[in-house]
Amino acid sequence: MNKKPIYLCLAHMGGKEQDFIQEAFDTNWVVPLGPNVNEFEQDIKSYLGGEKEVVALSAGTAAIHLALIQLGVTAGDEVICQSFTFCASVNPIIYQGATPVFVDSETDTWNMSPALLEEAILDRQAKTGKLPKAIVLVHLYGMPAKMDEIMAIANKYAIAVLEDAAEAMGSCYKGKPCGTFGRFGVLSFNGNKMITTSGGGALVCASPEQQQQVMFYATQARENFAYYQHEKIGYNYRLSNICAGIGRGQMLVLDAHIAHHRHVNALYQAAFAGVEGVSVLTNPSADFESNYWLSTILFDQIDSIDTCVAICESLGKKSIEARPLWKPLHLQPVFDGAPAYVDGTSERLFNQGLCIPSGPYVTDADVALVVEAILFSIPLKNYF
Ligand SMILES: Cc1ncc(COP(=O)(O)O)c(C=O)c1O
Repeated sequence: MNKKPIYLCLAHMGGKEQDFIQEAFDTNWVVPLGPNVNEFEQDIKSYLGGEKEVVALSAGTAAIHLALIQLGVTAGDEVICQSFTFCASVNPIIYQGATPVFVDSETDTWNMSPALLEEAILDRQAKTGKLPKAIVLVHLYGMPAKMDEIMAIANKYAIAVLEDAAEAMGSCYKGKPCGTFGRFGVLSFNGNKMITTSGGGALVCASPEQQQQVMFYATQARENFAYYQHEKIGYNYRLSNICAGIGRGQMLVLDAHIAHHRHVNALYQAAFAGVEGVSVLTNPSADFESNYWLSTILFDQIDSIDTCVAICESLGKKSIEARPLWKPLHLQPVFDGAPAYVDGTSERLFNQGLCIPSGPYVTDADVALVVEAILFSIPLKNYF
């Protein structure tokens, strides 16, 4: 039995975070705006290459919501969403009164299948007489989606892409950072992400005008009057200056975090390379540079979520945290009846896969323990 639990991905502070927080206290910027927020936005902007504008927000979910508002999504619209993802990718579509249309994944990246995307667009157009208003594309577990193919289809039908890069800060496709391809990009700084502000997110925008609009809606849509004048419905979605202080500190260790996640993934790849029927999701080619936010593993000969859960429980007894892959949204009871263009890929992944410890506190020795525990946990007769 391990003494120290091995977690999926714990928050890890670099050390400077408290200095920025202290500065906020010292200057009494204890509000959802201020110098830390401005600097954090600038840091992210530079990190993403300097061409995009960034708005720091209270959550990645808030960023998706504000992006949909900017894209004009309203009741009666349909919005295409990757099915294989966390519920936060789709919930804001519902907040807007629109209908999600789910699209399945392809097997190389586990992200949206370009072929099914085009099929969905054409079929929705045929059935409803209009095109979906937007496409919510996800870079799941940090793996970049097939951006050339997806963007070509989106451009062909002039549909805006909202890139959910909540899990993919630092991932690149053909050298370009995830979150900078679409009309909008979303980052999350939740406690378990590549960097954290405890809770928080950011919306990556194409222009200063868009950035201003997003800030307007994120601060209760207050008009420019001497008194409180409101002509639109707004939200209280800005990031606190205290949390942004954590974010500034985290930006100093972001590269180290990414390097560590990649190192851990390389260890898993090496360890499972010789094990038949077990595979670790890996960049399909040099075009894809995953941050490997969470390393994920597939068992070819398992075909039931119950077995995946049993493996998690068995690892749990050894103080190792593992988690089933996201349950595809088209299989979630709450989205029963929503249109879905699926070929069984994400359902199969859900029934065969796990997320395994990947974060900054996972040591080489931990990886060895995780590998050993997994090999011990899986139904042995199938593998040896
Ligand atoms: C794919 C994906 N999208 C969106 C979100 C939402 O981010 P947040 O938790 O910051 O609202 C998350 C994570 O929580 C996520 O994993």
